[in-house]
Amino acid sequence: MGKKVKKASSSRPQHRPTQKGTRPPRSRPLLERHLKLYEEIKRHNEELQRATEHKSHFLARMSHEIRIPLSIIMGFLDILSLETLGTLNQEQKTAVDKMLVQSQKLQKMIGGVLSLSQIEAGIIPIEISTFPMERIVESLRALAEDLQRKTNLKVRWDIDQDLPPLATDASKLDEILQNMVVNAFKYTSKGEVRIRIKNHLDSKTVEFVVEDTGRGIAAENISKIFDGFQQIDTTTSNQGVGLGLAIVKTYLELLKGKIQVQSKLGKGSTFTLILPHTLKAKKNHSARRVERPRRKGPARR
Ligand SMILES: Nc1ncnc2c1ncn2[C@@H]1O[C@H](COP(=O)(O)OP(=O)(O)OP(=O)(O)O)[C@@H](O)[C@H]1O
Ligand SMILES: [Mg+2]
Repeated sequence: MGKKVKKASSSRPQHRPTQKGTRPPRSRPLLERHLKLYEEIKRHNEELQRATEHKSHFLARMSHEIRIPLSIIMGFLDILSLETLGTLNQEQKTAVDKMLVQSQKLQKMIGGVLSLSQIEAGIIPIEISTFPMERIVESLRALAEDLQRKTNLKVRWDIDQDLPPLATDASKLDEILQNMVVNAFKYTSKGEVRIRIKNHLDSKTVEFVVEDTGRGIAAENISKIFDGFQQIDTTTSNQGVGLGLAIVKTYLELLKGKIQVQSKLGKGSTFTLILPHTLKAKKNHSARRVERPRRKGPARR
């Protein structure tokens, strides 16, 4: 004998024929449950967003407030170190110098936290202006020449001619590139640093490449370096705080750019940044007047 087939109707609500256009009553509780769930998730999201905004505002405010007493402390440490208030013995001098180095580190950390929290809280304005790319090149050259003098590393430049003007936030772009160049010098003990700027007319983008022959980054650590306060090798005398690349990543998102990293441990790293020629202004962005190139002719090589 075959198995008895259980009547499907026993636990389910019975459906009576409904009027045309009305939903069958069976789906109503489910729909209501979904709607309730949706409302709850939406409310949680809004609460979370408010909490994040409060946190970012608090951090931005706090970092700003800490800067003032810190700079006063640093001012006095400077005076002590210069022996304006009296001669220091060797031990006192060493102590004051150590305090100065650590306060500089603290100042840098506070500056980084302030920038990141201001971006999160949406209170960092994006100032779009149109400027010649030579301006960026000049600023990079000044930085690289200074770092070259201090490290004795070679620097190689490869810059496209006839670079177009950029319409973006110049000071943020400057900070992004400076962080990358400083890192290239900082994590390279011998060899060279190469800086390339390439124009891509078809995609209306510009590519900045900073390459070094330094210590490199292990594959498993590459994804971590853009997180704040992440320093891969803390054994070296790194005076940084691990915020440079977190700021690079956050600024790049604002400027609609992208960054790629290729690296081999012990061989070197290549950071490639792609940026649109023109950043479109949003409602809260401010756009400034067009700047004229300072001098004519191709970029220096
Ligand atoms: N060119 C590079 N070569 C090797 N390692 C690098 C390079 N750039 C970054 N890193 C690694 O990524 C980590 C994070 O870099 P990031 O610039 O954010 O911080 P930092 O240089 O340690 O400090 P800061 O930039 O805040 O002064 C570094 O500590 C280093 O371990
Ligand atoms: Mg750095």
